[in-house]
Amino acid sequence: MRGYVGSSKEIKGESNKLFRGGGGRGIAIHAKNVSTAYPRSNDVALRNINVDIPLHSISLITGPNGSGKTTFLELVLGFLKPLTGKLYVLGYEMPRNAGKVRLQVSYLPQNFMRDEREAYSVEEVVLMGLAPYYAPFQKPSREELRIVREVTRKLGIEDLLDHPIGILSGGQQQKVMLARALVRKPKLILLDEPFSSIDRDSRGEIIELLNGIRKDYHATILIVTHILSDVTSIADLVIELRNGEVVKKEWIS
Ligand SMILES: Nc1ncnc2c1ncn2[C@@H]1O[C@H](COP(=O)(O)OP(=O)(O)O)[C@@H](O)[C@H]1O
Ligand SMILES: [Mg+2]
Repeated sequence: MRGYVGSSKEIKGESNKLFRGGGGRGIAIHAKNVSTAYPRSNDVALRNINVDIPLHSISLITGPNGSGKTTFLELVLGFLKPLTGKLYVLGYEMPRNAGKVRLQVSYLPQNFMRDEREAYSVEEVVLMGLAPYYAPFQKPSREELRIVREVTRKLGIEDLLDHPIGILSGGQQQKVMLARALVRKPKLILLDEPFSSIDRDSRGEIIELLNGIRKDYHATILIVTHILSDVTSIADLVIELRNGEVVKKEWIS
């Protein structure tokens, strides 16, 4: 900062504070006029996106197949870059700060099914969610194992911890991947169709769990789902996409 008088530490602290406010105070994701395309594709996948997702909110992204829901998450994670416009995630401009942002974000991808021959146990897969804090092939600490137990108990999969993940049902694997996303106590949680293999009863429990996590961890949660129904009960904002454009933003009071 030009003209600032003080120690280099203060300067760094001050500019860091200003920098972290990028996108506006209290805003977890700020997109202004953002368009993006996949590499080597001539089509624009998202067009002129304007959204502000508040910190500590639960927001839903809905819309038909191919409307750009997964693309939006990839943009937030910095896998795709804006062709136009500005994008800030947790106050950091993207994609240039993707490394810093990803340390604070958990992502549950849409295609989570594991090969049936995969040898990792449920416990090992959930522990991977603690990376980079937990180094695989190192013995996990007691605290790490305790967190894994706590989260898997809440999801009703504690009894499966020593099972190889590949032999579990789709619903069970989805819960394992959800546990993996939650153990790190992330600031921002991105879930792509997290209920696709989950039966109705478990869905209700997971929705309550997510609501609790938002409060306990002060997390911001973004859920991509093409079925709204019961999940709307915990949502603050519903964003609807169609053909790569936002067609509706609805606040739920
Ligand atoms: N890896 C990719 N390369 C090129 N185009 C892609 C890729 N993934 C998705 N698309 C295109 O981007 C658009 C949005 O896709 P996507 O975000 O996956 O939709 P949704 O998640 O809403 O079903 C679609 O037209 C799709 O064909
Ligand atoms: Mg998708």
